[in-house]
Amino acid sequence: MKVIILGALGMLGYDLSKELTNNGITVIPISRQDCDISKKEAIYNMIESQGDIDYVINCAAYTKVDLAESEQELATIINGEAVDHMLKACNKKQIPFVQLSTDYVFDGTNKDNAYVETDPCKPINAYGYSKWLGEQYCLNSTNDYYIFRVQWLYGNNGNNFIKTMKQLMNDKQELSIVADQWGSPTSTVSLARYITHVLIKKPAYGIYHCTDNGVTTWYEFAKEIGKQIGYAGLIKPVQSEAFSRPAKRPKNGRLNCQKLVTSTKLKLENWQEMVTQYLDKNKMKEN
Ligand SMILES: NC(=O)c1ccc[n+]([C@@H]2O[C@H](COP(=O)([O-])OP(=O)(O)OC[C@H]3O[C@@H](n4cnc5c(N)ncnc54)[C@H](OP(=O)(O)O)[C@@H]3O)[C@@H](O)[C@H]2O)c1
Repeated sequence: MKVIILGALGMLGYDLSKELTNNGITVIPISRQDCDISKKEAIYNMIESQGDIDYVINCAAYTKVDLAESEQELATIINGEAVDHMLKACNKKQIPFVQLSTDYVFDGTNKDNAYVETDPCKPINAYGYSKWLGEQYCLNSTNDYYIFRVQWLYGNNGNNFIKTMKQLMNDKQELSIVADQWGSPTSTVSLARYITHVLIKKPAYGIYHCTDNGVTTWYEFAKEIGKQIGYAGLIKPVQSEAFSRPAKRPKNGRLNCQKLVTSTKLKLENWQEMVTQYLDKNKMKEN
């Protein structure tokens, strides 16, 4: 099997490239330097210039959630229109397409439990809208596609919540963390394994919710990190409204992954265990 990964140097792209390679799959890693996806011709040229390809996997994205409020046009070009061009280039060569999406396609208010793939979308910020648009291009394409909706990612190759908490816990004796947003912390190492499994197993094309197992709040996530690294300070729960941020966040971002589990027989990792692995691997339990 041979795949193209766009965004290969991003947090997920990096770990996914590694996992696919470890499974004997040939990866053509594409970074922003190789192909700026805000430029339509660059996308067509890059995909057309490769020989036979089994999947094009798009891990590239505009991911600055707050900045997207003031850079909506750019976010829409990168997360929306670029996906349309990728799909058209893939269609020409009949290459299945893989897109990464987010729980931010939901508003987080119209459901008490976890969202399933068929629930109606209603993004509440510019980033969420741009990712929803990317999904729409897939849905309206004749191409075969997988969309993986993921959330709360952390990985070795990028900034993430665990690194931020570790830094804050080194510097401060008291932290206030949001306790009214729900989701599943997800390691890019386990996510890379889930995606690789799907690409090999080939269940029906479509949308799949895909996270580590278990749900929590940012507050409980921070407490778990604190517990594991031996933080002696105080972690206080606060409401989202305590932080004024440009982009609103959905409060309920829980994603039901049953479709993925049933159709692929995947065993999802518990999020706390993946946090342990991450902290151990990065020697973050030491001062
Ligand atoms: N991180 C999360 O918690 C989270 C949650 C839900 C969904 N997702 C989705 O998961 C996917 C992977 O996210 P991630 O966290 O791995 O993101 P990331 O670390 O920000 O990586 C995104 C990659 O896209 C590249 N990129 C941005 N603009 C580009 C352009 N114009 N041309 C070419 N490359 C460009 C970036 O390159 P530069 O570094 O050069 O900018 C970066 O390598 C994305 O689709 C994201 O929307 C992530």
